[in-house]
Amino acid sequence: MRIAIDGPAGSGKSTVAKLVALDLNFVYIDTGAMYRALALKAHRLKIEFSDESSMVEMMNHTYFSLSENGITLDGRPLGEEIRTSEVSMLSSDIARYPYVRTYLTEQQRNLSRQGNVVMEGRDIGTVVLPDAELKIFLTASIEERARRRYAEHLSSLKEIDYESVLQEMKVRDFNDSSRKIAPLKPAKDAILLDTTGLSISEVVQKVVAMAKKRQ
Ligand code: C5P
Repeated sequence: MRIAIDGPAGSGKSTVAKLVALDLNFVYIDTGAMYRALALKAHRLKIEFSDESSMVEMMNHTYFSLSENGITLDGRPLGEEIRTSEVSMLSSDIARYPYVRTYLTEQQRNLSRQGNVVMEGRDIGTVVLPDAELKIFLTASIEERARRRYAEHLSSLKEIDYESVLQEMKVRDFNDSSRKIAPLKPAKDAILLDTTGLSISEVVQKVVAMAKKRQ
C-alpha cells in the first residue's frame, strides 16, 4: 500500500507522515529532504541550478537510498544541515527546474518500491505516485503554519523571528504553488484535511483509520 501525503510547509506533513508510518509499520519517505539535500550538494559544489548540463552531470553521480534511519545521499545520512532557512529557500528554488524534478521523481518512485510506504511532499498524489491507494492533502492557515515552524526553529536555531519565518513561508508557498511543473495542489482524488486547531495525534488517528479501511 502507498500513502501519499502532500501539503504546504508547516502543514504538519512530516510529523504526521512519520507517525502514520510508525503506527502502520510502513516505510517513511520524506521527499522534501531529497530536494534539500540535492540543493545543498549543488550549492556546495558551486553549481548554478540553472546550468542544466552541470546539474545533470552532478545528478548522474548522485545516489539516494533508504537506511533504517531514513534517506541517505551518496551513502551518508542526511542531518540537520539541510534544515536551515538558507537550505529551505535553496530547495524551493531548485524545485523549479524540470531536469531536477524528473530526476528526483524517478528516484522517489524507485524508493517507493520498497514495500508499504508513506511518502510525503508536494506532488506525490499528483505526479510521483498518481495511483497511490490513499492520498491526503494537509492544510492549515499560514499563520498557524508559521507559528509551528517558528517553534521548531526555536529549539534548534538562534536568531530567528516569527515575522521572517512567516515571510519565508509566503515566498515558498508562492514558489511551490505557482511553478509550471508539478505545482503544489491536491490530486483530484485526495482527501483534504485542515489541521488548524487539531492536535497531531488527532490527525494521525484520522489518517491511520482511513488507511486501515482501504487495506
Ligand atoms: O517539505 P520541505 O519543506 O522539506 O521541502 C522543501 C522544498 O522542496 C519545498 O519548498 C518544495 O519547493 C520542494 N519540494 C517539492 N516537491 C516535493 C517535496 C519538496 O517541490 N515533493
